[in-house]
Amino acid sequence: MLHKLTLIKLGGSVVTFKEKPLTANIDAIDGISRALTQLGVPVIIVHGGGSFGHYWSVKYDMHTKSANYDVHGVSVVHESMIALNQIIVNSLIRVGLNPYGMTPSALTTGPKPIVAKIKRIYAMAQSKVIPVTFGDIVHVGGTKYSILSGDALMTILARVLRPLRIIFATNVDGIYKDSVSRELINKMQVADKRKSIEFFKASGTDATGGMQRKVTEAFKIASHGMDVMLINGLVPERIIEAAEGTLKVGTVVKGRKS
Ligand code: IPE
Repeated sequence: MLHKLTLIKLGGSVVTFKEKPLTANIDAIDGISRALTQLGVPVIIVHGGGSFGHYWSVKYDMHTKSANYDVHGVSVVHESMIALNQIIVNSLIRVGLNPYGMTPSALTTGPKPIVAKIKRIYAMAQSKVIPVTFGDIVHVGGTKYSILSGDALMTILARVLRPLRIIFATNVDGIYKDSVSRELINKMQVADKRKSIEFFKASGTDATGGMQRKVTEAFKIASHGMDVMLINGLVPERIIEAAEGTLKVGTVVKGRKS
């Protein structure tokens, strides 16, 4: 059974200017905050790193692989994500919503879910609080750390909570047939995975794998029987349409059993 919950990933390309170090896209964030005031359903938000977390993780050569990274980098990357989280949380507070910023290390041990804690954030979302967590550098064990992308965190949360609506918002309209025609694919099946991953392999990458990672995680979630929508978060109304099940422009990856 799917729960009446909307799980939204706000990509770094939406909440920051990816080419400008440590610069949030305040207009885009505020636009999304205003749009979310129209949503009457429980929501959990995950955001990416963009020009905050990715900027520092490149400088300190940190990746999704578990390793003995420079521990000063661990502090700096984490702090930059907390700073971005505060910007997003404060935007949501300004429009009268009830966000609750939460470091992902409260919800996972490395990449492993702490199921009881994750269930608790669903209870919080039902009480009209909006948990806002993020991709981050996390402790894996001993002296090892790794970057847990917001996309991987989406899969972790989706598998535990089985939300009715799962939305990945980036700065593009969805998955295109090819980069030349930029014709949008409205609907995909889990079996179409290979085609789209190959397409995105050719596009840009960052510490956590760029668009390819988002698409990989979207298909992973869909293979667990949940529909996943990929939409343009720079058009905030689309987030609302997606959450209400009336999406017009975007790509839906159909969940295998739905
Ligand atoms: C990245 O999270 C987190 C860090 C680099 C610390 P994501 O990989 O989800 O970020 P975006 O959405 O691609 O920017």
